[in-house]
Amino acid sequence: MTLLLLLLLAQQPHQLCQQCHTEPASDVQSHPHFAKGVSCDACHGNSEKHREASGHAAPDRIATREQIPPLCGTCHPNQLKTYQATRHWAVLKAGEKSAQCATCHGNHSLKSAKATQVTCERCHATRPAACAAKPQCTSCHQPHGLLKH
Ligand code: HEC
Ligand code: HEC
Ligand code: HEC
Ligand code: HEC
Ligand code: HEC
Ligand code: HEC
Repeated sequence: MTLLLLLLLAQQPHQLCQQCHTEPASDVQSHPHFAKGVSCDACHGNSEKHREASGHAAPDRIATREQIPPLCGTCHPNQLKTYQATRHWAVLKAGEKSAQCATCHGNHSLKSAKATQVTCERCHATRPAACAAKPQCTSCHQPHGLLKH
């Protein structure tokens, strides 16, 4: 009973958004997040003013690229901690293009392992010779910790 109520409460914001945002809404539904009750409000707030003004007022929360890791990290603290020890985070914090959680995982729909690999290659077109020994980047590089010596 409590679980059912929680699920209903969790899906309510989703329904409030999907009429105007059909694509994010169907993307979120395909993510394991949705089954666990994580929807629009978890990352964008309830955005009441935004809804009532038909989009002419800003949503409560839209994370900038630097804000995305701490946002995801509220529920994924271990991945955040590991990620924040890498060059990816150092470069992102310096305001330059780098990989953050959503670059690899997607904003709303979960990217497949294959799509993630293509994403690595997009930024790392040239790689040391040592990288050619196996087809998967993640055979040798931990996705959140990168190189482990
Ligand atoms: C009545 C229509 C409507 C509803 C309901 C609505 N939005 Fe929007 N939303 C808009 C419009 C219009 C825009 C601006 C579209 C654009 O810039 O392409 C927008 C833009 C956004 C943006 C991007 C803003 C930016 O600056 O990049 C986010 C995030 C967003 N909405 C989240 C939500 C969430 C979350 C909900 C539900 C809680 C919601 N919206 C409900 C109409 C709506
Ligand atoms: C797990 C966090 C998360 C959830 C859940 C989430 N979003 Fe987002 N959303 C993001 C991030 C991250 C961005 C990209 C912000 C940026 O580029 O800086 C984004 C961007 C957007 C945008 C801007 C245009 C776009 O598609 O990138 C809209 C509109 C939007 N979200 C609507 C929604 C709606 C509607 C829901 C629920 C159906 C939702 N979001 C659920 C994290 C989330
Ligand atoms: C409000 C809490 C919350 C937030 C915020 C959140 N997540 Fe999650 N995430 C979850 C839960 C709950 C699960 C499901 C865990 C499980 O089933 O074991 C999950 C699962 C995942 C998974 C694993 C999916 C799979 O294959 O099963 C990934 C990847 C993920 N989240 C990435 C992100 C990213 C990226 C962000 C930020 C844009 C984010 N999460 C923000 C709660 C959250
Ligand atoms: C450089 C790309 C990349 C970045 C950046 C990244 N991840 Fe991942 N993440 C991956 C890959 C690859 C996997 C493993 C996927 C698989 O095995 O299918 C993964 C797995 C996960 C999982 C599943 C559980 C686990 O640990 O294996 C979660 C949750 C997750 N990431 C959350 C996050 C969060 C939160 C951030 C930001 C703090 C983040 N990721 C940043 C690539 C990345
Ligand atoms: C959006 C671009 C982008 C994506 C996507 C990306 N990276 Fe990176 N990566 C960077 C940048 C920028 C650096 C830092 C380069 C520097 O040190 O100046 C970096 C550094 C690294 C390093 C070196 C770390 C060190 O300590 O010197 C490794 C290894 C790495 N990335 C692996 C990966 C893997 C594996 C993936 C995919 C799972 C990936 N990257 C995805 C931009 C990206
Ligand atoms: C067989 C193991 C292995 C695989 C697979 C692998 N790497 Fe590497 N990678 C290494 C090693 C070892 C180093 C350190 C090499 C060095 O310092 O000369 C490295 C270094 C790197 C660096 C840092 C380069 C620098 O200049 O510091 C990047 C970026 C990188 N790899 C990206 C990738 C990407 C992207 C993939 C997948 C397309 C990949 N690697 C696959 C083992 C691997």
